[in-house]
Amino acid sequence: HRHLLGIASLAPHEIRFLLDEAEQWAILNRTATRKHDDRLAGLTQMNAFFEASTRTLLSFEVAGKRLGADVVNMHASQSSVKKGETLIDTAVTLNSMRADVMVIRHMSSGAVQLIADKVDCPVLNAGDGRHEHPTQALLDALTIRRRKGGHEGLIVTICGDILHSRVARSNMLCLTALGAQVRVCAPPTLMPAAVERYRVTPFSDFNAALDGADVVMMLRLQNERMDGGFIPSAREFSLLYGLTPERLKRAKPDAIVMHPGPMNRGVEILSGVADDPDRSAITEQVEMGVAVRMACLDVLTRGDRGVAGWA
Ligand code: CP
Repeated sequence: HRHLLGIASLAPHEIRFLLDEAEQWAILNRTATRKHDDRLAGLTQMNAFFEASTRTLLSFEVAGKRLGADVVNMHASQSSVKKGETLIDTAVTLNSMRADVMVIRHMSSGAVQLIADKVDCPVLNAGDGRHEHPTQALLDALTIRRRKGGHEGLIVTICGDILHSRVARSNMLCLTALGAQVRVCAPPTLMPAAVERYRVTPFSDFNAALDGADVVMMLRLQNERMDGGFIPSAREFSLLYGLTPERLKRAKPDAIVMHPGPMNRGVEILSGVADDPDRSAITEQVEMGVAVRMACLDVLTRGDRGVAGWA
């Protein structure tokens, strides 16, 4: 089976193929009065989330249901994981119920790969630790393409807790593969070592990073991945790196603002920017999340449905 574990394993033409497929679903989702397509009828989709989620879990559930799959959700906090069952035993248990596709979120980098190696169906990574969040990067790329007409040559500034962010990693891989110029901006304490290996330009000065940007993507401080408080403090971070309407003026006049959510309003982004209908693409990102997940579920299960697969 082919899995979707990260953007790192996708060729640029495969990314574009998934975006083209998702665009079709985005149009249908917006225009069709009845959103059902039964191509996954009879298939069982299991969403196993070992870490909290609103957008990713719900949009994978909506996506699977719109495609006609039987969708079941396992929340680790309400499961036998609480009684000490291991990750692999949990995966083998779900596999024994004959899942046809699994969607996994886990707090440890590499955990989704571990599950993919143990089960008999395609596995989609819904975010693993600091590693990757591939469907987030795809939905971000689709949102950018819809707003800007493409990716080639765009200046995209990603600012925030780059060190702990799987969204940053997947977006660096995805947007550079699509030809964008990616800048990453963080305090030195939250910047990964040797980040240039991703073919991005690092900044610690937010004003300089914003200069002439077409897209400004703000990231949350990942409190749950900090070992005992973060430096700088949230208040200091907000002063140095919070996106205010004033700071946004340094970007291009038609620059869009993105955030994967959940937002820490008043820390990395001010409400005046997040809720600006002309600049903010945040709700469109959520909308594109359903379309991208429909595309990924459809494409990854094609082989099992006897349909010609990947581009
Ligand atoms: N963007 C994102 O992954 O949000 P959730 O954690 O709510 O799924």
